[in-house]
This record gives sequence, structure tokens and C-alpha cells, in this order.
Amino acid sequence: RIARKAESLEALGDALAAFDGCTLKATATKLCFYRGAPTARLMLIGEAPGREEDLEGKPFVGRAGQLLDKMLKAIDLTEADVHIANVVYWRPPGNRTPTPQETLACRPFLERQIELVRPQFIVALGGSAAKEVLGVSDGIMRLRGKWRDIKIGNITVPALATLHPAYLLRTPDAKQKAWLDLLAIKARLDG
Ligand code: URA
Repeated sequence: RIARKAESLEALGDALAAFDGCTLKATATKLCFYRGAPTARLMLIGEAPGREEDLEGKPFVGRAGQLLDKMLKAIDLTEADVHIANVVYWRPPGNRTPTPQETLACRPFLERQIELVRPQFIVALGGSAAKEVLGVSDGIMRLRGKWRDIKIGNITVPALATLHPAYLLRTPDAKQKAWLDLLAIKARLDG
């Protein structure tokens, strides 16, 4: 109800800042809402803020974020062309995977965020975000690279999962697969 009432992204950010329903907030430094454009054709959704993100209050500003920016640049996109968020808005202690309860507490806000951003395409970064955004439980290697229409909040939008940039940092050989996914994203954006 709190999330649905927000009529703008700014109001949604204020609502999140006042929201105490996610236990992650207690251990986090800052709320990590979004980075990039308030409305964008492409919305990217990751798992959870890490250490750098927690300090800065913005998603994907650490090493994984730098790689993400390079990946976007490779398909001619900058931060101003995209809206970047996570499935949870606060850093899980020690960067553990968010629990289903933590994710569930944030879910109405993510849905409202998607409604307000009105992206034409959504990209889930990594297995955890893919499960949450696509609503399926297959592993990321099976899920990645395929568009499927998802219904989220009151919109239906094509979504694709790709490999998480943090995984690509650890596993450079997987960059080839990520490149194929980036080309699929570019093809959709270019119509
Ligand atoms: N990893 C994520 O999933 N999200 C961030 O914001 C940073 C790293």
C-alpha cells in the first residue's frame, strides 16, 4: 500500500527511506535506490548492494558496476540511457544473498519502481535477480539470453537474464556468453 501510493520515483524513494519493513535496513549504511535515468527504455536489476554501494547509496558503483558500465558502453549506452536497481534496497551483511523474506519485503517497491520507470525492456543481472524478476527457478546458465514476457506490477515487459558482472570478473571466459546477451539487448533496443 505504501509503495502503490507513490506517484513519482521521488515519492517512492521517500517511502523507502521511511520504510522499516525490511530487516536489512538495520545493518545498512545507506538506502540504495537507483542509478541512471528516472525513466529509461532499459532497466537493469541486480541482486543487492555491496560495500561500495552501501557507502554511496547507489547501485553498481563498485568493481562490478564499473564492468557493467563498460558492458553498456560496448552497446553504445551510458548511465543516462538506463535505470539501474537491485531486488533489495539495502546491503545484506557480508554480501550474503538476500533471504526470501528480505526480497519479499522489498518486492512491492520494486514493482512500483518498474511501473514508474516504464521500461520497454528489463535485464536481470545474475541468478538471484533472474529468479526474482523472471519468477522462475532454473539456473542462470539455462535462463540467460532468452527473452520472456513478464508481468510485473501493472505492466507486461520483455525481460532477459544475463550473467552478473561480478561473476564475469571471477570468470572472464564467460564474457563471451555475456556478449551474446548484450547483442540481443542491442538488437531489441535498435528495433
Ligand atoms: N552487485 C549487485 O547485484 N548489485 C549492486 O548494486 C552491486 C553489486
